[in-house]
Amino acid sequence: MTEKIKSAYLAAEGLTQPLLKELDGVIAIHDRLVLSSQPAQEVFWAQNIWRNPETLSIDSINDAAKKLQAIQRNWCLHSYHLHRRAKLILEKLSPRKSRPLVFPSALPTSPLGSFTLLDKNTLLASSDCSSAFPNGEVNFVEDRNGPPNRAYLKLYEALTLANLKPQPGEFCIDVGGSPGGWAWVIHQCGAEVLSIDRAPLSPSVASLKGVSFQKRDAFSLHPQEFELKQQSVDWLFSDLICYPEKLYEWILPWVESGVCKNFICTLKFKGEPDQSTIEKFAAVPNSQVRHLFNNKNELTWFKISSP
Ligand SMILES: C[S@@+](CC[C@H](N)C(=O)[O-])C[C@H]1O[C@@H](n2cnc3c(N)ncnc32)[C@H](O)[C@@H]1O
Repeated sequence: MTEKIKSAYLAAEGLTQPLLKELDGVIAIHDRLVLSSQPAQEVFWAQNIWRNPETLSIDSINDAAKKLQAIQRNWCLHSYHLHRRAKLILEKLSPRKSRPLVFPSALPTSPLGSFTLLDKNTLLASSDCSSAFPNGEVNFVEDRNGPPNRAYLKLYEALTLANLKPQPGEFCIDVGGSPGGWAWVIHQCGAEVLSIDRAPLSPSVASLKGVSFQKRDAFSLHPQEFELKQQSVDWLFSDLICYPEKLYEWILPWVESGVCKNFICTLKFKGEPDQSTIEKFAAVPNSQVRHLFNNKNELTWFKISSP
């Protein structure tokens, strides 16, 4: 490799292809780690972006650890080969033990760098990474009894990254809400939630205080219903299974109406992601689209008002 590496991208498991499609200047692909000759790009499909990678020559494990520590304190390893040597370097750094998060938790604030071994005597290390979590992996202490499915982990992660959650006294709408994993999280936050779906909520969620349900087509729900009642909506959540283009056409009037403060919506793809619609979502002012660790072939669109 002769070109200088200016940024690196860790794709989610099984999702390297959509990342490659949106990335410029690819010079090497090491399994899920993609190296680029271009400065860091704000791509949608990366689980972690290494924004300022440096290549460092090392002559021993101790030397590697010393050079990394001279840059900063906290590092995580992504190794795609030379696993044992890489692990020995990590051990020398006395890494923080990463424990599953209890929801809700604040976002970690101390900087976390990422490194890998390009070969036996060369490190690639980036002190500035897009994710505050090791390799972008946001793991939570799971609740195996409360929620009816595992979809709640997506909302745990989205709210953690947003650094904001529904508050007691707030009113939320959750479209495509059944069987109720997201409604269960909203209830846990202490807010009220109206869940809309064509399928029923799980009885254990339907019976929770502050959870109400309407069996209807989500696309028949328009902001005028709430404008007429002069009822503001604090959060609009969507985990609908539908074409992202259809979701965009439906959500835009909600954004423009100003009736709702915060939005978190999953964009679900069948096969190849629809790049033009992703860009339309990303172009909504003060919003962002990102791939969550707990997303599959999906992205999450956030539009969060400052508290
Ligand atoms: C992935 S599931 C949602 C899981 C949910 N977030 C949870 O935490 O349990 C998607 C839901 O979208 C619903 N859905 C799809 N199209 C819909 C529509 N047009 N109107 C209402 N619900 C719809 C499906 O019935 C399904 O329950």
